[in-house]
Amino acid sequence: MQWVYIRPLRSFGDRRMRTVYVNGEYLPEQEATISIFDRGFLMADGVYEVTSVLDGKLIDFDGHAKRLRRSLGELDMTNPMSSDDLLEIHRELVRLNEIDEGLIYLQITRGSDGDRDFAFPDPETTAPTVVLFTQSKPGLADSTAAKKGAKIISIDDIRWGRRDIKTVQLLYPSMGKMMAKKAGCDDAWMIEDGYVTEGTGNNAYIVKDNTIITRHLGNEILHGITRAAVLRMAREAQMKVEERSFTIEEAQEADEAFTTSASAFVMPVVEIDGVALGEGVPGKVATRLREIYLQEMRNAAI
Ligand code: PDD
Repeated sequence: MQWVYIRPLRSFGDRRMRTVYVNGEYLPEQEATISIFDRGFLMADGVYEVTSVLDGKLIDFDGHAKRLRRSLGELDMTNPMSSDDLLEIHRELVRLNEIDEGLIYLQITRGSDGDRDFAFPDPETTAPTVVLFTQSKPGLADSTAAKKGAKIISIDDIRWGRRDIKTVQLLYPSMGKMMAKKAGCDDAWMIEDGYVTEGTGNNAYIVKDNTIITRHLGNEILHGITRAAVLRMAREAQMKVEERSFTIEEAQEADEAFTTSASAFVMPVVEIDGVALGEGVPGKVATRLREIYLQEMRNAAI
């Protein structure tokens, strides 16, 4: 007997069907497929980037393209396309999906050679898988969450030792986010050897006596593209910056705190492990940096 599986009609609510990019093709999202043997799926053997879109333009695209090349290089993965081609795909997806404010997600995995094996497949015969899709986020810049500020819990950082590579191994950060939600908070900062590394999906900062303090770069944290831009802008605005480790106790005694990421820009933090910072509302430095960042990046968007 032959079985025929009829796929039930799925409801996507009011959300319109997106056009996504998979391995050279622009397709309706429900028609886009990759192999069940894809190493991104089986081994988390893949890297990603998230680039924001404001006014239909890409924010800091060059920074994301550069970090992508680095992530691929660190994992001996073939870089399947030039930055120009990548830019073209990003722009085409923004156009096809009419994105005004939102995000573009890009993932490149080591592909599939049709089986499961711990050893990498031969890059000569196995092409990487390239997937991109858009997320429309009206109100990304004028965010109510940023006006309120985020409440943070601290959790142990038990991730792998190469967090500077932007891999798709996001299970623990997802668990951290769920721990925060369960505690009635918005996000978690991770702690290793007594010091804050970073947030689940962002870099972490405190401000004390007008000095901005954030962990120095290394293998322990992702080298945030937003971090680089925000620190440059802070220095240009004559603000003092210290790149060094800090503890959660120091953070609780700080005047203010914030996080940075491509998906939330500069996000003020108002509470850490139940302790309100300053007045318990978004701080002056974080608010100012958010304004400066958004203004400058909008002007430089491509
Ligand atoms: N996350 N640290 C971690 C662990 C991150 O996952 C991210 C970004 C950052 C900030 O990097 P950037 O400024 O380049 O976005 C720091 C993205 C937004 C995400 O996973 O959705």
